[in-house]
Amino acid sequence: MTTFDNETIFDANLRFHPLHGGGNLIGKNIVDRVKTHNKKFKRALDMCCGAGFIGAGLLKEDLVEELHCTDINPKAVELCTANMLNCGYEANCYVSNVFENVRVKFDLITVNPPWWSTYCRQMTKYKDIQSQLIWLDKDWAWHRKFLRNLHLYLNEGGVCILQENETSSDLLSFAGMTQLRVRDHDCPAVDSPVTGDKIYPWILEVTHD
Ligand SMILES: C[S@@+](CC[C@H](N)C(=O)[O-])C[C@H]1O[C@@H](n2cnc3c(N)ncnc32)[C@H](O)[C@@H]1O
Repeated sequence: MTTFDNETIFDANLRFHPLHGGGNLIGKNIVDRVKTHNKKFKRALDMCCGAGFIGAGLLKEDLVEELHCTDINPKAVELCTANMLNCGYEANCYVSNVFENVRVKFDLITVNPPWWSTYCRQMTKYKDIQSQLIWLDKDWAWHRKFLRNLHLYLNEGGVCILQENETSSDLLSFAGMTQLRVRDHDCPAVDSPVTGDKIYPWILEVTHD
């Protein structure tokens, strides 16, 4: 079992264990993309928050006023809550299967979701290390549910930024799942902190014009 103790994100020290779902490398891509909007967002949601890397990055960089962090896994929410407290950040962390327990709308939604829609060669490595919840979105069921309902939770003028993986998807994989405007952005390739494999991430940006 791989552990990720005391990984540092944006100078904030977070505790890690197998709930780690990308951490510093992946979180930084999302936070960098949020920065390109040159504004502070009023209310943000970091869905699939895991241990809280991305949310912590948003607060550290002063990009959001109010932050909600949600995950389907109660253990992730517990860890995220503890990490936010340790970092001295205020965040509303709660369990939710996609939007099920979400009651408000947001100006910004960030997500590093599960990346793989089917079992494949790369997954055999993850299988031994991490919970399936972190990497498997079977037949894109999570993406479909999330993107179909996104317009109900994103304020007009709001933006949603998802981190995806070139090996398993491209813009066409998701474009038909939402009525909102979608576009893609390149990201630098990174070495997986879990398996050491090269990862080719890309950003899916969805806007509610
Ligand atoms: C790739 S990890 C990302 C974790 C964290 N954001 C990070 O970057 O380290 C994916 C996360 O999605 C969560 N997840 C999977 N299915 C979900 C669902 N239906 N609703 C909410 N969260 C879900 C998992 O528990 C896991 O924490």
